[in-house]
Amino acid sequence: MSTTIKRISALEILASGGYPTVEAEVELSSGLVARASVPYGASAGSHEATVLTDGGDRYLGKGMQSVVQTIENTIAPELVGQNPLDQKSIDQQMLDLDGTSNKATLGGNAVLAVSVAVARAAAKEVGQPLYRYLADQFQTGLDLESPDQLPQPMVVAIEGGKHADNTTDLQEYCLSSTQSVAPSESVRKVLESYHQLKKILQKEGLSTNVGNEGAFAPNGIATNEAPFGYLVAAIEQAGYQPGKEIGISIDAAASEFYADGLYHLAVENRKLTANELMAYYQTWLEKYPIATLEDMFHEDDWTAWSEFLPLTKKFNVPLIGDDLTVTNTERLQRAIDEQAISAILIKLNQIGSVSETIATCMLAKQHGMMTTTSHRGGGETNDTAMVDVAVAVGSRFIKVGPTRGERVSKYNRLLHIESEIKNSVK
Ligand code: PGA
Ligand code: ZN
Repeated sequence: MSTTIKRISALEILASGGYPTVEAEVELSSGLVARASVPYGASAGSHEATVLTDGGDRYLGKGMQSVVQTIENTIAPELVGQNPLDQKSIDQQMLDLDGTSNKATLGGNAVLAVSVAVARAAAKEVGQPLYRYLADQFQTGLDLESPDQLPQPMVVAIEGGKHADNTTDLQEYCLSSTQSVAPSESVRKVLESYHQLKKILQKEGLSTNVGNEGAFAPNGIATNEAPFGYLVAAIEQAGYQPGKEIGISIDAAASEFYADGLYHLAVENRKLTANELMAYYQTWLEKYPIATLEDMFHEDDWTAWSEFLPLTKKFNVPLIGDDLTVTNTERLQRAIDEQAISAILIKLNQIGSVSETIATCMLAKQHGMMTTTSHRGGGETNDTAMVDVAVAVGSRFIKVGPTRGERVSKYNRLLHIESEIKNSVK
């Protein structure tokens, strides 16, 4: 008799924001055990899978005891006895059990924790690293011959928006490796630039305290454009070529500063129409070494996205959908049909299962779109499954903050994968 799922249990643990999240544990009949925990967003899109919480007073309503109950009392009875080596079927059974389009019944957090824990247990069972197991399960076409093909770091360097107080309206300014080199080299280059950035901000009299994602969150920054100058100087001071080796990636998270049909740039005391905002963005495209642009418009402002895409193509800058597409094949298909984006951000918990996440990555790939797999800003854990997914599907970047344990665990996973690959091709 082949291996089956013997037990699924769950635990309320803490995420980096100081509020709970959920961890699932799966035991196979072979005795192997694996765990997985899930993050949540600070600027979550409204089309994301539901994150269920307990309500009430405990943890200000954000407890996850009910999610633990759901995993142990509703999901576990369905999946115990099943074959862990058929991830699609495991995930499908949970989707059927949930019966909604946004996992409102079980919670995306419950489903994803179990989904990843089963995948991890199954990978252990067959003696493969998680990324290799996922690549085989979903036939992603992964053909890793050299560490140069691994995802490159997109390191959040300055953060504002919902991730910090009194700083930029735009949520993230990242340092991205624009080369294809081994992560041990690109991560080093980007972090050296990040450390130069600290000196530059200090010279400007700006605070170098960090925000949710471990990036600098300088209080009282004058404009949304100012960070570009600091980042270019940081790259240069670190001895690298802006654009050629390290570029700047922006995540505006524009849904967060959109209200009543206008984009409110509080820092600059201006309210812009989508077209005025586009013209503002264009000046940045003309002046700075921009590597990628993400969520530059509201999550339902489809017209603005489609109008903006040709301009980004002219500058050869991928336009990434995040809140717009929420790792959802249906929303991605709409974005393809409406020519709204040329790349997509991938967050497992936006959709809530491993199978659906990889299906979205594969759809993007079929349409020649680059994928960037991302951490979450609200609460992260030390779980590194997002890195294995990024490697399995051939993501161009992983977007993760530069400091704080729950962020560096992702880069460290990438470095371990690089080391494994180097050893296996020797
Ligand atoms: P989040 O946003 O706070 O919703 O996780 C992070 C991001 O978009 O990169
Ligand atoms: Zn985003």
